[in-house]
Amino acid sequence: MSSSPRPRVLATRRWPDAAEQRLDAHFDVVRNDSDVPLSRADLAQAMREFDALAPTITDRIDAEMIEQPDRRVQIIGSFGVGFEHIDVAAAKRAGVVVTNTPGVLTDATADIALTLLLMAARRAGEGERELRAGKWTGWRPTHMLGQALKGKTLGLVALGRIGQATAERAHHGFGMKIAYYARREAPAEVAGPLDATWYPDLAGLLAVSDFVSLHIPGGAETRHFMNAAAFDQMQSHAILINTARGDVVDEAALVAALREGKIAGAALDVYQGEPNVSPDLIALDNVVLLPHLGSATTETRNAMGFKVIDNLIAWFGGETPPNRIA
Ligand code: DGY
Repeated sequence: MSSSPRPRVLATRRWPDAAEQRLDAHFDVVRNDSDVPLSRADLAQAMREFDALAPTITDRIDAEMIEQPDRRVQIIGSFGVGFEHIDVAAAKRAGVVVTNTPGVLTDATADIALTLLLMAARRAGEGERELRAGKWTGWRPTHMLGQALKGKTLGLVALGRIGQATAERAHHGFGMKIAYYARREAPAEVAGPLDATWYPDLAGLLAVSDFVSLHIPGGAETRHFMNAAAFDQMQSHAILINTARGDVVDEAALVAALREGKIAGAALDVYQGEPNVSPDLIALDNVVLLPHLGSATTETRNAMGFKVIDNLIAWFGGETPPNRIA
């Protein structure tokens, strides 16, 4: 164990260069150079050997790790906005601070939602697969017809930061109508510029949407929020887009809905049990599948790292970290 006066920080995965350099400038950093996920035992050991842990959304930090009697970690500065991988209640009980990285992922994630929407509507994945397989026989009036976006309704499940940014792009960029499901109506300054219609019940939103984009957080409360009953309520030409969390969708029910033609397609960036993706989904041509790329730009990933660093600097400087969730 180091006797360095600088707090010891374990970064569980590699970060982009600028963020790593800034982390190194402030802390005594040990980095997982292999960039392979650490085992549960390694993470538990790190909780005993470091002052701060900088995990990512794929590192599960459970109550047992947090409640170890010889724990040294004071703060878990998670690299990511979602925090369902950390037992936040246990951290609160144990007095361990937890922070995340909200705000800086908004545009990148909204861009991926639109990427998925366009790919599914215009059958871009299917088209590319056909061409690469040498099966394209040339232009013809009926080849691979997709759906136009202009005038169609994009139904957003939640109108938080990322939902709003997705709606802005769809409405102002592509002329789509915006509808949203939320428990409470959005303030006029949010809904007004989007000309957005509020649906206080999910069924109402699903019934009018040509595209449905999910923007709710993961966790026990939202697990399988989109289930067989929800797919029954969607229109048969509608397409589901998920950039939120895999667990929000009952994947078995989604596969059934796609096979039975209850919905026309799906475009997914997140999955239950990542990085494993259901072979049933992979087998379907009307599904677009991306490998959790929502926040994957150099700018965004650096900004996420900077947020982790700002939170750690604040904590070790005796201040409240700006993105404290526990
Ligand atoms: C997050 O930070 O929760 C995102 O899913 C990463 O893209």
